[in-house]
Amino acid sequence: MYSDKVMEIFKTETGDSPKNAGILKNADASGQVGNARCGDIMKIYLKISDGVIIDAKFKTFGCVSAIASTSIACDMIKGKTIEEALSFENSDFVKALGGLPAVKIHCSVLAKEALEAAVADYRKKQAKLAGG
Ligand code: FES
Repeated sequence: MYSDKVMEIFKTETGDSPKNAGILKNADASGQVGNARCGDIMKIYLKISDGVIIDAKFKTFGCVSAIASTSIACDMIKGKTIEEALSFENSDFVKALGGLPAVKIHCSVLAKEALEAAVADYRKKQAKLAGG
């Protein structure tokens, strides 16, 4: 059902030494979203410097596909500008995973939406700092 890549990431992120799962201390922003269809929740934390995402982590009450999608999304956005990160579609995450079962594509949307929510949080904080 799942690609080897999905299973490899899932095992890493739920194991003793997760790569991207967990809380990012001193995060500059975070965004949380829920999937109305299944009730799962995803939260992404971002560390941003000069418009570049230098670190990203996630916490979730989500399924295998949501965990794998968000973990690979964290890998893909690190080192990217905010705009570059936002240009990724959930289909890019699915492709990098070697595919997801059709009924699980919506799980990858959680990664995309949580990223967008975290960037919105960052921009709100920046505007506040700028006195806006
Ligand atoms: Fe809910 Fe995958 S089933 S995110």
